[in-house]
Amino acid sequence: MQKTLSLYDTTIGKKAIVAVTGLILYGFVIQHMVGNLQVFLGPEKFNGYAAALKSIPALVWSVRLILLVSVVLHVVATLSLVSQSAAAREVGYRARNYKTTSYAALTMKYGGPALALFILYHLAHFTFPGVPMGHYEHSHTDVYSNFIHGFSVPWVTAIYIAAQVFLGLHLYHGSWSLFQTLGISHPRFENVKRILPQALGIGVAAGNIIMPLAVLAGVIR
Ligand code: HEM
Repeated sequence: MQKTLSLYDTTIGKKAIVAVTGLILYGFVIQHMVGNLQVFLGPEKFNGYAAALKSIPALVWSVRLILLVSVVLHVVATLSLVSQSAAAREVGYRARNYKTTSYAALTMKYGGPALALFILYHLAHFTFPGVPMGHYEHSHTDVYSNFIHGFSVPWVTAIYIAAQVFLGLHLYHGSWSLFQTLGISHPRFENVKRILPQALGIGVAAGNIIMPLAVLAGVIR
C-alpha cells in the first residue's frame, strides 16, 4: 500500500514538472515568435529589439538559466515517466499495433528529439557560436542581416519549416496532455480543450514558418 502510494505520488510529481516546465517553454516560444515577427518592420526596429533584449545581461542570463533548467527537467521527467510506464507493463507488447498506438504518442516520441536537435542547430546558427549558413559573415549586432542571409538559403529555410511542423504538433499534443494533467475534464471545457491546443499549435507554427518563407520569397530583404 505504502509503495503504491509513493509511486503514484512520484508519477504525479513528474507530470507536474513536465506541465510546469512545458508552460514556461510555451511562454518563451510565444514571446520569441511575437518578438521575431518584428522582422517585418525592418532592420532598425528588429535590431533595436534584439539590442534591447541584450541590454540587461542579468536578465538575459536569468532567462537563459530558467530556459535551460526547464528544458532539462522537461526532458528528464518525460523520459522517467516513459521508462516508468514501460516497466509497469510486466510483459512487453508481443506485437505492436500501430493502428491503436496513438498518433499523438508517436509524434511526441519522434518530435521531442527532433525539436531538441533543432534547438541545438538553431543556437549554433544564430547565437553561439553563430555559424553563417551561406556566404556571409555572422554579426553579433546585426541580427537582421543574419536573419536575411540565413533564410535566403533554401535548405536552411526547409529545416526551419520542418522543425516548426514538429513544434506545432508538440505544442498541440503537449497542451492537450496539460489539460489531462490538470484534470480539466468537465464537459463545459470540452470546446476549449479541443480548440485551444489546435489554435496554439497551428498559430505558433504558422507564425514561425511565415518569417523564413518571407525571406526566401524576397518579401523581406
Ligand atoms: C522560424 C522560427 C525561429 C526564428 C526565425 C528564430 C530566430 C531567432 C533569432 C534571430 C535568434 C537570435 C537573437 C539574437 O541574437 O538577438 C534566436 C535565438 C534563440 N532562439 Fe529562435 N527562432 C525561431 C524559433 C525558435 C524556437 C522554436 C525555439 C525554441 C523552441 C527558439 C529558441 C531560441 C533560443 C533559446 C535563442 C537564444 C536566445 C538567447 O540568446 O538567449 N527559437 N532565434
